[in-house]
Amino acid sequence: MDGNGRWARRRFMPRFFGHKQGVDALVRAVDAFADRGVQYLTVFAFSSENWKRPSEEVTGLMSLVLVAVSKYLTKMASDGVRIRIIGDRTAVSDKLRKAWEQAETMTQHNTRITLAVAFNYGGRWDVVQACRQALALGLDPQQLDENWLAQHMALSFAPDPDLFIRTGGEMRISNFLLWQTAYSELFFSDCLWPDFGEADIEAALSAYARRDRRFGGLNADAAKPEGH
Ligand code: FPP
Repeated sequence: MDGNGRWARRRFMPRFFGHKQGVDALVRAVDAFADRGVQYLTVFAFSSENWKRPSEEVTGLMSLVLVAVSKYLTKMASDGVRIRIIGDRTAVSDKLRKAWEQAETMTQHNTRITLAVAFNYGGRWDVVQACRQALALGLDPQQLDENWLAQHMALSFAPDPDLFIRTGGEMRISNFLLWQTAYSELFFSDCLWPDFGEADIEAALSAYARRDRRFGGLNADAAKPEGH
């Protein structure tokens, strides 16, 4: 969800205003994706590296999450959204941890769409925390395979993402779901996150529909003998 800061600056407003609008854009996007049949949506809300931002911005983002939970949780719960949080919860405040737990518990039986919020998350952290679980369990090296790791990573409750969308014009993955996006289709949009709406969602999904996914194999045409 990149571009909140620039969106605000263009309006001569503080960065926090952009993040605030970013929450509203997220609530709209969840609904729009769900209406189009998307069953899992994972958003990058706060990365392991975002602690490097000025302390006012970090504090602002933390309190914004609390405000967002109290403003939107009831609506999301009644709209059929199941909320899951992925990331390292040890470094966040008790208040925030409790808000996450409340959001997860209140929405656990919903089935319309699963919204996974990556908060204090990093793709490298995720691989390391899964390996730590293996070590703590004393796993035999022969038992440690891709399947075992995938089942112990933060997004183990969801299939690998089909589509990765980054807004804000940057063309990087920035330590998001490094393991899980091995075969995801990538879509980069210049749109700044607070402006990300129905038309942008349509553009991303229709670009995805035109992709030829091979997962390292051949597509149907290439597999045919020449001349057929
Ligand atoms: C990146 O834009 C955005 C973030 C680091 C924060 C995104 C967080 C939210 C939208 C709020 C999430 C809240 C909940 C409840 C999940 P940027 O600041 O890097 O923008 P810039 O590239 O224009 O500076």
